[in-house]
Formats: sequence, structure tokens, C-alpha cells
Amino acid sequence: MSLMNAHRVSARPKLLVSAGIAMLLLSAAQAKGEETTAGNGAERSIDKSVFGELPDGRQVDVYRFTNANGIELQVTNYGGIILALKTPNVAGEFDDIALGFDSLEAYLSDAYRQANPYFGAIIGRYGNRIAGGQFSLEGETHSLATNDGNNHLHGGEQGFDKVLWQAEPFENESGTGLVLRYTSEDGEEGYPGRLETEVTYTLTDDDELLVDYQAVTDKATPVNLTQHSYFNLKGEGSDTILDHQLMINAQEFTPVNDTLIPTGELRSVEGTPFDFAQATPIGERIEQDNEQLGFGGGYDHNFVLARDDAAADELVLAAKVWEPESGRMVEIETTEPGIQFYSGNFLDGNLTGKQGKAYGHRSGFALETQHYPDSPNQEAFPSTILEPDETYRSRTVYRFSAQETFDS
Ligand code: GLA
Repeated sequence: MSLMNAHRVSARPKLLVSAGIAMLLLSAAQAKGEETTAGNGAERSIDKSVFGELPDGRQVDVYRFTNANGIELQVTNYGGIILALKTPNVAGEFDDIALGFDSLEAYLSDAYRQANPYFGAIIGRYGNRIAGGQFSLEGETHSLATNDGNNHLHGGEQGFDKVLWQAEPFENESGTGLVLRYTSEDGEEGYPGRLETEVTYTLTDDDELLVDYQAVTDKATPVNLTQHSYFNLKGEGSDTILDHQLMINAQEFTPVNDTLIPTGELRSVEGTPFDFAQATPIGERIEQDNEQLGFGGGYDHNFVLARDDAAADELVLAAKVWEPESGRMVEIETTEPGIQFYSGNFLDGNLTGKQGKAYGHRSGFALETQHYPDSPNQEAFPSTILEPDETYRSRTVYRFSAQETFDS
């Protein structure tokens, strides 16, 4: 697939390798004969280095993974943030398609905290909004941090995107990856119950990124975990994503009020700018005079995924995005009932990314697999309540490829 793979992988220095990781590297090398199926000399690798220090002195690390085709994933245990994802275009040239920064300082900066784009992060306990920062459960009203006007957004002031996770790299049959664990104490950000969370990223040799979420609690509590990566398939730092063609496997979406809380209606996408059942350029209808687009400043809406006869825990196709210049495509499958499509409307050029280029308006898109926003207050929506005798499980697959045309 790529002429550059061999060079890229072998030339990259191994950084600060711990004992555990050295063993992993050895087994990756042992597996090499089988794994280099692409015939391009690339091989799996894992390495780890120091990313920085939190104000309280705790060390933050960055893990780099490559697969047998030279795709590279960088993840930090701060917020479980995907820092970089390098994939080939149709000509086999690699670019980093994930928006983000090179330094921990940038993620901790005031400018970043004010803009709060959640670049690449794990979102929890609740991805998306909870109206008024309140919900009732088993006769008790719970008040959450309100960090988006009157609403609670993406877990509150210090959500899972801003905590340090315990990290453990691994290699298995399908690829390499990182298990991240975080325990959210009873009452954190106002949520009931002590929630033990585990998120696993796996980079496979089939050019997939698997994200597996798991959680258990000791009291009933809402849980809605997601991943908030922004992609620009031309390469991060490129202008807008408006020419990217998007297909969303949904016949309905959940319209919102002017604070982006769902009204409760499931509305047909037919005849609206929300109809992405056939692949359509993101920018084609984004400026239409439409009340819903007005509320979001563009797309910032949850789509109801068509699951047909698939069981609730089965993967279904959620979305495909293809960018005509690079030919890069990402296909997303999920066990979740919804996906938030956010067209980067709040990006305003104030944050500067890895190549020193400003991240301007709509220079990245996020597709966040999830349960619907505000479910704890919306009886008719699929429940997000995790009970103490249950295990929360969710999986999302991102499959990366490059092709001349879009066979949506
Ligand atoms: C989500 C929300 C948006 C916005 C972005 C981050 O997509 O729905 O409104 O908060 O995260 O800026």
C-alpha cells in the first residue's frame, strides 16, 4: 500500500522503552514473519515516552503504535487523548489526520480550556448534554456541574478528557494497543456511584482502530462514553472539511432546542439537510436557512442509527467519510444507537495545531458514537442507566483506507 512504510517504521527511534514494553517489542518482532503481509517491510511496534508533567507532578506518557501497514497511532494517558493518527492517501503518502497538539502544555493551557474542543479525548461519564445539569433517579434528584450554559456537557468541569488514566500497552493476535483505566469516585462531578472504567484502543493490522468501553458501578448511574477525535482526511491543519463526503446510516435525527438539548422528537431526515443516507459533501447544505443548523451553527446533532434487525450489542455501520483529494476514507461501525455529527463549528482559528497551522472554522469533524443526548431526562430514549449488577459494554470500530472513488 505504501512505499514509505519501511522507511518510516525502521527510521523511527525507539524511545524510553520500559521492561514490559521491551517484551512486547520482542514479541512483535517474533510475529513479524506473519504480520508483514503488506510486503512493504513495515512491522508492528510499540513505544512509550514521557509527554510531560501535570501541575501536581504526576508524569504523563505518550504511547506510539504502528501496525503491519505502517499506520501510526499516538495516545496519551492524559484524557486517553488520541494525539495523532497517520494513515496513507491513495498514493501511499502518510499524513496525520487527527487534530491535536504536540505538547501536554497545549492541552493544559487556558486557551485550550476556554475553547474546550475535546480534541481526541475519551468523554465521560456522559458524552453530550444533560439538560439543566439535573436528572432524577430512583426518586432522588442529582445535580451535575453545569459547564455549557445551564447544561452539563461531556462529563462536566473535569470530565474523563481531563483526568490521568492508568495505562497498560499490549499486543494480541489482531494488533497492538493500550488499556486505559480510571475510577471515578462516588459524587464526582455530581454523579452517583463509584464508576470503574476501562477503555481499550486496539490498532489492528486490518487498518482498524477498535475502541472498547467497559464500566461497572456500585450505584445506579448514567453512563455514555464516547471518543471525541476530530479528523481532517486531507491531513490535520488543512483548511475545511466541507468537501468531505459523508454518509450516515440514519433515517432520523434528534432535533434540538436552542441550547442543543433534544426536544424528544425523532424526526425523519428526508428532505432536510440532515439526510446523509446517500453520501453528500458536508458543505453542500450546511449554510441552508434551517432552524436546526442555526441552533448548532452547522451540524451538531445526534443521528438515530438504522439498526434493522441487529441486536443491541451488535456492530452496525454508522457512517463513512471520504475525502476526494487524498482518497482517504474512514468507516465507522458501532454497537451504540446514535452518533453525534459535529462539523467543527466552534473552531475559530484561536488554537494552533501540530504543524503550527491554526485550526479554523470547520477544519475538522467529529463523529461521536453514543446514546442520545439528555437520555436521563428523556424516558422514550434508550436508557443510559447502568445498574450495579450490570457491566457497561460498548464498541466502536474506525476502519481506514484510501481509494480513488467513493463506493458509498
Ligand atoms: C460536541 C458538542 C459540541 C461541542 C463540541 C466541542 O460535539 O455537541 O456542541 O461542545 O463537542 O466543542
